[in-house]
Amino acid sequence: MTGGSESLARAAYDGAWRVQDVDVQIFNAADAHSEHMLAADGYLFVFPENLAAISGGMKSFFDRCYYSCLGALNGRPYAMIICAGSDGRNAVTEAERIATGWRLRQIAPSAIICTQAQTPEAILAPKIIDALHLSAAAELGEQIATGLQMGIY
Ligand SMILES: Cc1cc2nc3c(=O)[nH]c(=O)nc-3n(C[C@H](O)[C@H](O)[C@H](O)COP(=O)(O)O)c2cc1C
Repeated sequence: MTGGSESLARAAYDGAWRVQDVDVQIFNAADAHSEHMLAADGYLFVFPENLAAISGGMKSFFDRCYYSCLGALNGRPYAMIICAGSDGRNAVTEAERIATGWRLRQIAPSAIICTQAQTPEAILAPKIIDALHLSAAAELGEQIATGLQMGIY
């Protein structure tokens, strides 16, 4: 909603493209469908925590794709970055449970990036993610791409 997750996802996307011979795609959750999930070898899910849960847009993506992908993604690698105001843990728990249901393989601890937004004004303001966290997101994207390219994952 306010750009934090998008910045992190774009940084990870750029990081993944550092790896040769890997095709990287980025989707807004609203535009991502089962076909994209089935066609990919690995995943990086990036989304906010809203109301102590996975954000609605991301949850809708999981709801839409869960059963049409069930059983077809077993063992594929994934990681997650959660953009939160001050918590993020419930969103991680929920999403990791979905990933477990899909039998995905977690290749890095889920990262929670807190923007420290706690007042309504701060929560509704555009988010600027600091360079350190953008760099870590890029490295995570690069890690997944490298692992896939080398056949490690
Ligand atoms: C409706 C709403 C509910 C939120 N609830 C939480 C929450 O439960 N826990 C939390 O840590 N942050 C919460 N936040 C703060 C957002 O996670 C934070 O602003 C984050 O940076 C949003 O990411 P985005 O810039 O990608 O939209 C909430 C924000 C909104 C708009």
